[in-house]
Amino acid sequence: MDRRILSSLLLLLLSAVLASAVAVSGDDAMIRQVVPSDGEQSEDHLLNAEHHFSLFKSKFSKTYATQEEHDYRFRVFKANLRRAKRRQLLDPTAVHGVTKFSDLTPSEFRRQFLGLNRRLRLPADAQKAPILPTNDLPTDFDWRDHGAVTGVKDQGACGSCWSFSATGALEGAHFLSTGELVSLSEQQLVDCDHECDPEESGSCDSGCNGGLMNSAFEYILKAGGVEREKDYPYTGTDGGSCKFDKSKIAAAVSNFSVISSDEDQMAANLVKHGPLAVGINAVWMQTYIGGVSCPYICGKYLDHGVLIVGYGSSGFAPIRFKEKPYWIIKNSWGENWGENGYYKICMGRNVCGVDSMVSSVAAIHTTSS
Ligand SMILES: *[C@@H]1O[C@H](CO)[C@@H](O)[C@H](O)[C@H]1NC(C)=O
Repeated sequence: MDRRILSSLLLLLLSAVLASAVAVSGDDAMIRQVVPSDGEQSEDHLLNAEHHFSLFKSKFSKTYATQEEHDYRFRVFKANLRRAKRRQLLDPTAVHGVTKFSDLTPSEFRRQFLGLNRRLRLPADAQKAPILPTNDLPTDFDWRDHGAVTGVKDQGACGSCWSFSATGALEGAHFLSTGELVSLSEQQLVDCDHECDPEESGSCDSGCNGGLMNSAFEYILKAGGVEREKDYPYTGTDGGSCKFDKSKIAAAVSNFSVISSDEDQMAANLVKHGPLAVGINAVWMQTYIGGVSCPYICGKYLDHGVLIVGYGSSGFAPIRFKEKPYWIIKNSWGENWGENGYYKICMGRNVCGVDSMVSSVAAIHTTSS
């Protein structure tokens, strides 16, 4: 057995042991134990931190109000460079490095750019998806090739990921039922959807403070539909009043289903019903640049809502769990994050909880003007 395979196996074994101990946000502490860093001073020098920081500032037009703030952000940036380096070792099929979130601490990142509410049980109104045949699934599939996916959007510093995941799924379902791709309004959900989870006290959709895709579908069912993005544009802030105008409904939910944590069923539902709304643990996404993320250790605590638009295998076969080794995920952090706004995560073992909260929506056939 060659060394690489042996060390992969060792890490896998280690991750299996550690995964059981991974707590809510303890992932990084865990990673630190697995990949200890050398002296931080010499490492900063090796990492050429100053150079990277000035590139980062100009690339993302970052300015800081005071010298103190600047120096603090540089320290955070250096910690993130070290973090990315450690993660690279534990996620060799992806590329980790400087991203637009590199001057944020992991908790700032979580607070400002995620926004999935905690949920433990299934929502009351969701059906359980019927089991679909899986024998004739294509090896590769991407709804972008079929015109069912709008351009990548940007939630900004607002925990409204859940609304983007929900509109993304409905945009796909609406396309499937009408043949028309219409970009839908997240702001309507941010302003108007305060749907509470009947099973989970205190878990209500609350704008930039988080929500759930299934609650959003429930809200859309009750409200009658969603307006177009251009009729109710995104502001990235909450606290505004609801400006929903029923006469401008562009798409409506007919029903939605929760899909079992079975990746073949997920693939079958994706192909049949359109893009899937999923929850994911986004810890690794702060440093993600590209490739297929397949970390040896990743918490299953879901904190981010995204959209699975396809799956594939091209250019990726380190350990072939499956014939379709990765999910293609549309994110809502703009095109200047990840692979033009997209993320790829490996299939096969519920990595980062990607199989744990999956839903599919169907749209009413409405003819819009
Ligand atoms: C919606 O309901 C129809 C009819 O019951 C069912 O066949 C379909 O699977 C459902 N779709 C979703 C996404 O729930």
